[in-house]
Amino acid sequence: MMASDLTAPRILVLASGTGTNLQSLIEATKSQGFPGEIVAVGSNRPKAPALGLASQAGIETFVVDHTQYKTRQDFDGMLRAEINRYAPDLIVMAGFMRILTTEFVRAFHGRMLNIHPSLLPKYPGLGTHRRALAAGDRLHGVTIHFVTEELDGGPIVAQADLTIDPDDTAETLARRVQEKEHLLYPIVVRWFCEGRLQLAGNEVRFDGAPLPTPFYLED
Ligand code: GRF
Repeated sequence: MMASDLTAPRILVLASGTGTNLQSLIEATKSQGFPGEIVAVGSNRPKAPALGLASQAGIETFVVDHTQYKTRQDFDGMLRAEINRYAPDLIVMAGFMRILTTEFVRAFHGRMLNIHPSLLPKYPGLGTHRRALAAGDRLHGVTIHFVTEELDGGPIVAQADLTIDPDDTAETLARRVQEKEHLLYPIVVRWFCEGRLQLAGNEVRFDGAPLPTPFYLED
């Protein structure tokens, strides 16, 4: 038996900010029988509250401060080196606010998930809640996808929606979407760790078969 068969899949989380998604993943992975372990949390911001949450949970942290690197390539190179020290099976981006180079994304193809606060392909990029409101959308939500070279454009694994209320603001929507995020991310990470979820080329596979449509959690 190989050594890797004896250990739980190794999860590395990247976060730039508050870390509420990280916290939901910490709680999930610490629960009895979770099939994976968070081995490290990395950030590009030395003062990211997410780092404090990780430390409180006894998880190793590292910082690669993007302001200290002249080029995106230099930053990504250092980030890759730090990540590789932990030999992760899965990289979970949880509010990691850096655009990554093609080389970086290719190096971790099929092993990197991202969460985005919109129903992709609607509203890649920033300001998603404001944009959904401005468009008069009835539905809004969150998407979890594999990371590829296209920003917020990788193959979609799962989505959760909510109905926009007439009195919703960008702030209330952000909070409501985050409640969905905290439900959905641990589920998808669990699937990956159980070996049920894979990326074959650009196709999401679940239990060995192509996923015809993303998993959809209705409000
Ligand atoms: C989340 O809304 C996520 O969708 C986006 O960044 C935010 C991170 O929030 N990518 P938190 O740091 O997990 O609280």
